[in-house]
Amino acid sequence: THGKTHKILLLPGDGIGPEVMAPVSALLSEMVSRKTIDLQVSEALIGGSAYDRTGHPLPADTVARALDSEAVLLAAVGGPKYDTLPYEHRPERALLGIREKLGAFANLRPAKLFPQLANASTLKPEVIRGLDLVVVRELTGGIYFGSPRGIVTEGGVRVGINTERYSEPEIERIARVAFNVARSRKKKVTSVDKANVLESSVLWREVVVRVAREFPDVTLEHMYVDNAAMQLVRNPGGFDVIVTGNIFGDILSDEASQLTGSIGMLASASVGGKTGLYEPIHGSAPDIAGKDIANPSAMFLSLAMLLDHSLGEPALARTLEKAVESVLEEGVRTRDIAEPGCTLVGCREMGERISRAFFRLL
Ligand code: NAI
Ligand code: MG
Repeated sequence: THGKTHKILLLPGDGIGPEVMAPVSALLSEMVSRKTIDLQVSEALIGGSAYDRTGHPLPADTVARALDSEAVLLAAVGGPKYDTLPYEHRPERALLGIREKLGAFANLRPAKLFPQLANASTLKPEVIRGLDLVVVRELTGGIYFGSPRGIVTEGGVRVGINTERYSEPEIERIARVAFNVARSRKKKVTSVDKANVLESSVLWREVVVRVAREFPDVTLEHMYVDNAAMQLVRNPGGFDVIVTGNIFGDILSDEASQLTGSIGMLASASVGGKTGLYEPIHGSAPDIAGKDIANPSAMFLSLAMLLDHSLGEPALARTLEKAVESVLEEGVRTRDIAEPGCTLVGCREMGERISRAFFRLL
């Protein structure tokens, strides 16, 4: 550590959220007591459980404490119990609300094949061999926000309008995030656009090329989005960092997440503001909540991303990733990734084993 007390906020939320957060919270406490890291950890309410207690899914106190932290670790929100509430009170509203308050313009979604889980994917093992990529998606611009927009009537015909729009500063800052991520990985950026058709993509490409000059150690390639969608299922091992705009990134990050076939293993980060937000990509899984069978790995891997991107502790992050891998290597599995001959364990035991492996590998 660097003599500075880091401050992070945990938001366990609903459903399996508190179950997968519990072992991560225990790991953090032990890291603090063993002085692995100088950290102040607290917890706040979000989602349906916050609504039950305070009448609001995103209490002002939670927002204030999030903004006062270097990073927020969120498990999941939502559940059938809340589905009939008006939108403003729905747990999912809290999710959008907190991302917005934190000003996160870059969404990072790693998709990594753990070799031990090669059979979980719908793709052939030889196709997904070496799959270890990150999609860096621009999150606050592009066609989801551009104006003009709306449904208008022109000469008696209704027309739906949206506008793809990117400014140079918006492209520059997302490109910089991507090149920095690549620097800590395989040093390759694939910029995905549609520059053969869209002016917004022509500018995108030009700005990305300019930013690339600041990163001579990183290789840059360009790919049209239709080709990228194809290459992701054809040769996903060829990618390292994919950087792209909001709508292309929305689609490609979901495509990439399915390549590994195990939702309980995938983490994400939303960064760019002062406070980073880290969360598994899965939801609150009401179908398995309260049964101690959820996979906590995605939650641990989200903490690894937090350590890397917000706390500047890449070595601790790598050790935590290796801890998850070593538990898989021992044949230990939760139900969602179970296979014949494995040692089947619950959420709590999986979490304890990952923590023990972490301190063993430290
Ligand atoms: P989900 O991701 O909660 O569940 C989809 C399937 O994956 C279920 O069969 C579930 O049992 C399984 N699953 C998910 N996480 C798992 C884990 N860690 N270990 C083992 N199995 C796991 O998505 P679903 O069912 O569409 O949504 C359920 C609720 O979660 C809804 O209220 C939804 O709005 C909310 N949601 C919240 C998100 C968040 O907090 N970021 C993201 C997605 C959905
Ligand atoms: Mg999506």
